[in-house]
Amino acid sequence: EYIRLLRGLVGLETELAERLSLRKVIIIPGDSEADSAVRRELGRATAGVLSQYLGDNMIVAVSGGSTMAKVAEAVNFTLPSTTIVPARGGLGEVVEYQANTIAAVMAGKLGGRYRLLHIPDGVSEETLEAILTGDGNLRTVAEVIKQANILVHGIGEAVEMAGRRGLSAAAIAEIERRGAVGEALGQYCALPGEIVYVTSSIGLRLDDLAGIGTVIAVAGGSAKAKAILAVAGTGGQDVLVTDEAAAKAIQLLI
Ligand code: BG6
Repeated sequence: EYIRLLRGLVGLETELAERLSLRKVIIIPGDSEADSAVRRELGRATAGVLSQYLGDNMIVAVSGGSTMAKVAEAVNFTLPSTTIVPARGGLGEVVEYQANTIAAVMAGKLGGRYRLLHIPDGVSEETLEAILTGDGNLRTVAEVIKQANILVHGIGEAVEMAGRRGLSAAAIAEIERRGAVGEALGQYCALPGEIVYVTSSIGLRLDDLAGIGTVIAVAGGSAKAKAILAVAGTGGQDVLVTDEAAAKAIQLLI
C-alpha cells in the first residue's frame, strides 16, 4: 500500500474508476509485460478481489489467457461450495490457456466443483444452435454459465488474439478494418466501446454482463491500454485489476 501511495497510484485508481465508469480499479506497481514478478502480483491481487466477492454456493465463470492462468495459480483459499465454469468455449487457445483448464485449476485450489465446455474450435452457428437446443451436457453447462454470479476475465489486444486463435488472414484483416483494438470473451471491440467482430461460440458475451453480479477484468502492460479502454467502453465491467504501465498509458489516452 505504501508503494502505491508513494507512486500516486491510489489517486490514479480513483481517476480511472471515474473515467471508465467502474466500481473499482486496482493498480499493481510496475509493468507485468516486462517483469514476471509483477505478472504474479497481478494474479495474486485478482485472486484477492475474487475472495472478497465470493460467497457460499456461487458460480464463477472464468476466461482463458496467460493472465488468468496466473490468477488461478494464485488462489490460496478454499470454498468448496463454489462451482467454476469456463465463460466461453472453443475459442482456440493452447490447452494451458484455455478457459476449461483455468476453471479446473481454480476449482482444484478452491476445493470446489467445475463443469467444462467441450466444444471444438470453429464450429458453425448451425451446429452450436443444434447443441443448445438438444438435451445434452453442453446445454446444461451453457445454462449454468448464464447463471454465473461472478465473471473473472482477461483482456487481449485484438489482432494479437485473432492471430493466437488461428483466425484466417481474411478474418484478421476484417477485424483490423473494423478498428478493433481490444478483445474479451471472443468478442473484438473498437474504441470508444463498440463490439465489431464476434467469434461464434457458447457462453457469455459482453452484452450479457449486466446480468452478472460482479465482473472482474484483469489485464496489464502498456500495450493493452487501448484494449482495456475499448472493452471497458462496452459497459458491464465492475472491477479492473491492472498494472502501473497500463494505467499510465490509459491516462494518456483519456
Ligand atoms: C483469452 C480470453 O483466452 O485470453 C480473452 O478468452 C483474453 O478474453 C485473453 O482477452 C487474454 O490473454 P492474455 O494471455 O494476454 O492474458
